[in-house]
Amino acid sequence: MTGSEPIPASRQPAWSALVDQARQAASTTLTGRFAADPARGERMVAEACGIYLDYSKNLMGEDTLGLLVALANQSGLRQRIDAMFAGEKINVSEGRAVLHVALRAPRSASIVVDGADVVPEVHSVLDRMAQFTDAVRSGAWRGHTGEPLTNVVNIGIGGSDLGPAMAYEALKAYSDRGRVFRFVSNVDGAELTEATRDLDPARTLFVVCSKSWHTEETLTNANSAREWLVAGLGGDDRAVARHFVAVSTNAEGVGAFGIDTANMFGFWDWVGGRYSYDSAVGLTLMLAIGVDQFDQMLAGLHAIDEHFRTAPFEANLPVLLGLLSVWYNDFLGAQTQAVLPYSRYLWRLPAYLQQLEMESNGKRVDLAGRPVDYPTAPIIWGQPGTNGQHAFYQLLHQGTRLVPADLIGFWNPVEAQGHSHDLDHHHDLLTANMFAQAEALAFGRDASTLSGRGIPNWQVPHRVCPGNRPTTSILLDRLTPESLGKLIALYEHKVFTEGALWGIDSFDQWGVELGKILADDIEPELECPSEDRLGHDSSTNALIRRYRRARPQ
Ligand code: F6P
Repeated sequence: MTGSEPIPASRQPAWSALVDQARQAASTTLTGRFAADPARGERMVAEACGIYLDYSKNLMGEDTLGLLVALANQSGLRQRIDAMFAGEKINVSEGRAVLHVALRAPRSASIVVDGADVVPEVHSVLDRMAQFTDAVRSGAWRGHTGEPLTNVVNIGIGGSDLGPAMAYEALKAYSDRGRVFRFVSNVDGAELTEATRDLDPARTLFVVCSKSWHTEETLTNANSAREWLVAGLGGDDRAVARHFVAVSTNAEGVGAFGIDTANMFGFWDWVGGRYSYDSAVGLTLMLAIGVDQFDQMLAGLHAIDEHFRTAPFEANLPVLLGLLSVWYNDFLGAQTQAVLPYSRYLWRLPAYLQQLEMESNGKRVDLAGRPVDYPTAPIIWGQPGTNGQHAFYQLLHQGTRLVPADLIGFWNPVEAQGHSHDLDHHHDLLTANMFAQAEALAFGRDASTLSGRGIPNWQVPHRVCPGNRPTTSILLDRLTPESLGKLIALYEHKVFTEGALWGIDSFDQWGVELGKILADDIEPELECPSEDRLGHDSSTNALIRRYRRARPQ
């Protein structure tokens, strides 16, 4: 190890103090903490940029938070934030800058990478996206046969799907309801079939998103979509030019596929796929919600960027979330983290956050390539409340595992459209459930509160809820393009904070390579009718042979 290599997080002075804190935490309950400090629920909150964060129902005291902040300082979080915003190549294993914050920087800003200011480039692509969006939405851009394009199918996978799909679902109430928007990611042919089966090719636009333009699933789906389109429009290949646009960093690949690069919207290698939904990868979203609302979303993202960059760690919302995560993950032994949005519109958020967190921080070596001796990313999972309450919350209340949960809600509902009745009371009920769950999880129900209710003694243990189950409540005013932007930036920087403390590269994803390489080897073997020699392990060989026998030749 050379002198310039970072000190592992577990050797920082605050780490061992936190290990001691964790031992003490085991002897204190949330009930005890709130009894000893009745104002805890008003004090252990942070509010900024219209986000209210209540972290009082976590298994920690303010002293623990102080130590976590010390760990952040010792781990160089401040320097790492400054390095990201300055365009330094903090993605060390790929030698790249990490500048999703530049995607929402105002025109007046300047961020220099390799001697060039990237902000004008960002705005030039946003301007082209805006022109295209206006042309499609106004009907000025028409299909090959002169029809307006009222159906939009996004083809992409991973970051080229989850972000725009999540945001489209989140902002559906703000979208053009006269158009159909679909998302195709899985290479399973069922997905393209279902997405196109009732669409008129003459009115359908495909937005093919792939940062690399090498992703097999996306290129396979895009090829099949092209065949579907051309066949549906009388076999004329020239139709592709009006019905296909590309979002990529790879102009050569896009051209080779047959999409005119004039219809390509670019982005840059300093935008990670999972951090890209507000780049040109958001074109389908912009087509859905229009230019102004897309801009409002960018403003929301930027507001949190500035907060993250400047606020002291104790009052910094993404930092607080990141520190809580490190606390549970590394000191209290939690293996998973639930994300429970009390909003139907946020139903894709847990899936989006799975990639954001697990592809970013699912790493086993530090920046210097040394194996880490502490757990990194938790497993992220979740579903919207109240549906989850009638499914897996049982485990949260009475199971044997520690599962910290983020509960996300809104003070006000999205204005209902197309419904003749006032549904405001639904929002009260929804929010009552969110608050009630946090309360029940924290304080539970002990045997004494069950006595005198005619409950047989033998049943009492089954009905006891031990409580002491941690939640963080996150509330915003209303789900809008701007508040969605804030929420997403909150989690992006939470993930950054964790990665900085763990001393890992949150911006590469080498682990996904191996499976892709093996799939490339196996695909021709599946299609080969002969009993060719197979060079895999005996299990994989047997699966391949069985598949060959099961498939009609
Ligand atoms: O799964 C690996 C990955 O590279 C993700 O990081 C990325 O979001 C996804 O594949 C899609 O990549 P591309 O946009 O290059 O097609």
